[in-house]
Amino acid sequence: MKPILWITFYLPNDLAERLKPYVTIKMWQDDIHDMPQEEIEAAVLEADYLWTIVPNQITAAVLNRTTKLKMITNLAVGFNNIDVEAAKEKGIIVTNTPDVLSETTADLAFALLMTSARRMLDNAKQLYQGKWLGWQVFGMTGTDVHHKTLGIIGMGAIGELVAKRASGFDMNVLYHNRSRKEEAEERYGVTYRSKNDLLAEADFIIVLTPLTKETHHLIDREALAMMKRTAHIINVARGGVVDEEALYDALVNGEIAGAASDVFVEEPVSTNHPLLSLPNFTPMPHIGSATVETRQAMVQRNLDAWEAYFTNQSIPYRVI
Ligand code: GLV
Repeated sequence: MKPILWITFYLPNDLAERLKPYVTIKMWQDDIHDMPQEEIEAAVLEADYLWTIVPNQITAAVLNRTTKLKMITNLAVGFNNIDVEAAKEKGIIVTNTPDVLSETTADLAFALLMTSARRMLDNAKQLYQGKWLGWQVFGMTGTDVHHKTLGIIGMGAIGELVAKRASGFDMNVLYHNRSRKEEAEERYGVTYRSKNDLLAEADFIIVLTPLTKETHHLIDREALAMMKRTAHIINVARGGVVDEEALYDALVNGEIAGAASDVFVEEPVSTNHPLLSLPNFTPMPHIGSATVETRQAMVQRNLDAWEAYFTNQSIPYRVI
């Protein structure tokens, strides 16, 4: 019997075809809903190999119970959904999809910045609701993006590409990161700031850090209070990096001007989520990497890792 590769999401168009000589493929068949957690756990225990997406939580508790799982590929660059420490202890290889989604995610980050600055979602809603009644000098006005100060928190590959886009808008770009990025400073003309200085100086803040114990609620009540009242914050990282309750309060109380988020603590986010009731908040359903070209490239990264494993080559895109 061939070993089992469990794909815990729906992968269309027989894209895993080329793995069939090596494994029996089992796949979640619902293209609309994510696989429920109990079923994921049963799949993890049955699998020799596992192919996952961000909503699938692969916890230490389930990894510790596996007896034959050898490798996990995650169809994402982030891997906070997998307890990599527990995987490492069990000798399980984990791979992700670096680089191929950086440009596309930087595009979305910048699009959300523009959307928030120019109140595009709220203005479109007004139009749909028949509230565009005439041309008003100061009606539907947002704020300029060009020549403003952008603060990037988390200066990895995506951060650098956001900085590149910002330079086309003549923005002054500050960044904060665990370590200085001197090469990026030179290449993109970005300037390092402490977190607090960046919060106080930036007109727009884009959050791009991975979610770890250290970055959980990196943007909390105190951080939001340091921002300018005219500033906007954009989260394209993970829901837990920004304290959603504190963000709601800051937006309602006018402590900041606007926010946009591609990510939420609970995904899919409930339509009753308080943030969704605010005109100065733009939500997106976690579409940072969601273009056909990029998703194809991400699938390819994972397929390359599997094929390397099954043909005894060195495995690319390893996280551990
Ligand atoms: C998406 O969120 C990713 O980490 O690739």
